[in-house]
Amino acid sequence: MFDPLPPDLVAALSRLSSRLGAFSALRYLAEADSTNDLALELAVAGAAEGTAVLADLQRAGRGRRGRDWFSPPGAGLYLSVVVRPRGPMRATPFITLAAGVAAADAVREATALPVELKWPNDLVIGRPWRKLGGVLSETVARGGTIDAVVIGIGINLLQVAYPRDIADRATSIETELGRPVDRGALVVGVLGAMRDVVERLHAGDHAGIGRDWRRLGGVGLGGAAVRWLDREQERRGRALDIDDDGALLVEVGGRVERVIAGEVRWEGLSRE
Ligand code: BTN
Repeated sequence: MFDPLPPDLVAALSRLSSRLGAFSALRYLAEADSTNDLALELAVAGAAEGTAVLADLQRAGRGRRGRDWFSPPGAGLYLSVVVRPRGPMRATPFITLAAGVAAADAVREATALPVELKWPNDLVIGRPWRKLGGVLSETVARGGTIDAVVIGIGINLLQVAYPRDIADRATSIETELGRPVDRGALVVGVLGAMRDVVERLHAGDHAGIGRDWRRLGGVGLGGAAVRWLDREQERRGRALDIDDDGALLVEVGGRVERVIAGEVRWEGLSRE
């Protein structure tokens, strides 16, 4: 079902296999519909935490909110990782936030680019923000509990012609850095960062992960003006913070509301 790992990945994995532990179980396919679909199948079949799937291209890559994820050959990192949550079910959205921290820190480490997080877990850069990557998590439920969460991470690597609807909001590591990044090193960096953050999740370190999220996404908190759609109605407020469940806390007319889903826009930071 899977293809042999290409040499750049074999070399990068063997350099750092001790850091990766169970997160070195990387499967590879030159072409996939969606790496999330494959990782979901593996999770349902009992794959251990840390099992990951990488593809060179996705024919039907999925983004959040039912969108497509543009996945041309070799131009992006398309990776999905199986996580087995141990805490209460309500902690699941927090896993997605934690994955955003891992992905952003891995890109920062591999490139020194000042990548930030836009709630909940878009990897963004510059002013106004341009999107460099994103996280889509999908769950496997069994008997009322979450059996596995598949964390799908997409990062734009190479400068390509993006579809018209995202062209003015998307960017890539190559565009920002002026040169491409070593894909193998970045994949291994993301897997290593995922291992660290998942261990911290299992240890219950929500506070520490929250602090890391604020380090990367803090520019959009502390009173930043936001607007979002709530059941077709536009709402406006000031983003204050995130809470321990990963919700965005927004002050609206003197009251604090929890925003748990939806597309939030930041005045002066989001591109209109
Ligand atoms: C977003 O909309 O910001 C989330 C994008 C997630 C894309 C990744 S690419 C690897 C994995 N497979 C998919 O089909 N989607 C995720």
